[in-house]
Amino acid sequence: MGDVLLQAIDLKKYFSTPRGELHAVDNVNFSIRKGETLGVVGESGCGKSTLGRTILRLLPITGGQVLYDGQDVAKMSKSQMIQMRKRMQIIFQDPYSSLDPRMSVAAAIAEPLKIHGVSKNRAELNAKVQELMDTVGIAERYATSYPHELDGGRRQRVVIARSMALNPEFIVCDEPVSALDVSIQAQILNLMMDLQDQMGLTYMFITHDLSVVRHISDHIAVMYLGEMVEKAPVDELFRNPRHPYTVALLAAIPKPNLDQSQDESELIKGEVSSPIEPKPGCRFIPRCPYAKPECAEPQELKDVGNEHFVACWQYS
Ligand SMILES: Nc1ncnc2c1ncn2[C@@H]1O[C@H](COP(=O)(O)OP(=O)(O)OP(=O)(O)O)[C@@H](O)[C@H]1O
Ligand SMILES: [Mg+2]
Repeated sequence: MGDVLLQAIDLKKYFSTPRGELHAVDNVNFSIRKGETLGVVGESGCGKSTLGRTILRLLPITGGQVLYDGQDVAKMSKSQMIQMRKRMQIIFQDPYSSLDPRMSVAAAIAEPLKIHGVSKNRAELNAKVQELMDTVGIAERYATSYPHELDGGRRQRVVIARSMALNPEFIVCDEPVSALDVSIQAQILNLMMDLQDQMGLTYMFITHDLSVVRHISDHIAVMYLGEMVEKAPVDELFRNPRHPYTVALLAAIPKPNLDQSQDESELIKGEVSSPIEPKPGCRFIPRCPYAKPECAEPQELKDVGNEHFVACWQYS
């Protein structure tokens, strides 16, 4: 087992809205070991992107702590943050909007190197850009192409090359393959896993697609309306899901080889609400088939063995 690289302690990110305070991330606790991938899953609006941005301090923290390599991220000075920005990167879903349409492939990859003054001269810069293009599998002939001339997979490779330029340690990957054709998704996932092996990278991998995280993650965290309701090693979670929400989420994965007509009772019923001024108890109560009066008490992630944590009193 490796050392912990990133730890969140009682992390909170609230937004003020006209309807009250929205608890996008509420009392979230987890850690990620060096070289490992934490998959973060949950329905749209459960706070996955907000969590990713808050741990990188792209959004101010409302409460709690983020420790990166033991250092409190919120307490870092401006100059410490500039150094940290090299070590932590983020990759978004839509490679088209994360690239400047007026910048060629080579210019886009050179940009972070220039900003941080990494290369001593032009020749060194060009060599480094070439090396990064090789690393992510973009042929040299695309160096002068512009984003609109590339397909989605190549665009995402450019984004990955940019994020690798400064030799980061930790990357938040926010739905990095969701906008890509299924046939290309596997190529990009394989590239990301190869890079992880070669460079010892640590990932937080955000997705609503459970089949994608299963492939790439060591541990999986399940979020529901701003809270982490379950966390476990990947095989343990798929084999032995405990929280009724996780059970429903896994049951909702389409099973193409089995009976085509999916059993209605397996799908999650009810609407997801917004976590505005939430009550203290479990937020899944309105949709939970097993809800009991005890669920109105605050639920904490509890260790149920095998590195498996569940926020449901029925397992404590
Ligand atoms: N800047 C903001 N101001 C107010 N509310 C916000 C803001 N950003 C996010 N939210 C709210 O916070 C909650 C979590 O949003 P977030 O984008 O983190 O969810 P997500 O899990 O990434 O969803 P998706 O799967 O659709 O990307 C949502 O209710 C959202 O409306
Ligand atoms: Mg999101």
